[in-house]
Amino acid sequence: MKYQGIIFDLDGVICHTDKYHYQAWKKLADKLEVYFDEVINNRLRGVSRMESLNIILEKCDRELTIQEKEACAKEKNEFYKELLKNMTTEDLSQEVRETLEQLREKGLKLAIGSSSKNAGFILERIGLGDFFDAVSDGNNITFSKPDPEVFLKAAQFLNLQPEQCLVVEDAEAGLLAAKRGNMDCAGIGEAAKSHLATYKLRDFQELLSVVEK
Ligand code: BG6
Ligand code: MG
Repeated sequence: MKYQGIIFDLDGVICHTDKYHYQAWKKLADKLEVYFDEVINNRLRGVSRMESLNIILEKCDRELTIQEKEACAKEKNEFYKELLKNMTTEDLSQEVRETLEQLREKGLKLAIGSSSKNAGFILERIGLGDFFDAVSDGNNITFSKPDPEVFLKAAQFLNLQPEQCLVVEDAEAGLLAAKRGNMDCAGIGEAAKSHLATYKLRDFQELLSVVEK
């Protein structure tokens, strides 16, 4: 097989938390009286919480202090975590669950490579708390995507070289991170349109044929 491990982004690949991120940021933006819409929201995919806040604050007419920014990021996360409580095992599609099981049966090691500090909580909610061989997330990195750190750490946790791993991503920042980490990358959703994607997936289960190539 071409790869020995697969590193999955979480938000937008394994499950769809985008609507919750959007609702939580929107609530904060409305409170701050800062314009925010779905187009701006698309720029937040894959980037850290604080970097997301900085993007949102581009529309703010005053400069916030570091302390104010930290309070805002904390508040957004509280809104977001409240919304995440709505997630259940129903939020993991049958397609994703079965594909993950079949990839494992092929002998591949499977990891998460996510910028989110809530990755563990989300995985628990959707019933994958103990599933992955390794989880590299926002809690074990200094630099967020497009820096490759989160994926390089995931490969390390799997005891694999970066070149032995395939990354699966829905965001441009993630595709760039994989490329900088010297890893092939399968783009899904919006990322399937990018020239940075080694493979352009029509759906999640297509991964089963990609790993056989
Ligand atoms: C990424 C999302 O997975 O995690 C980003 O695509 C988000 O939109 C980032 O900003 C950080 O998430 P969290 O849960 O730590 O605020
Ligand atoms: Mg994503």
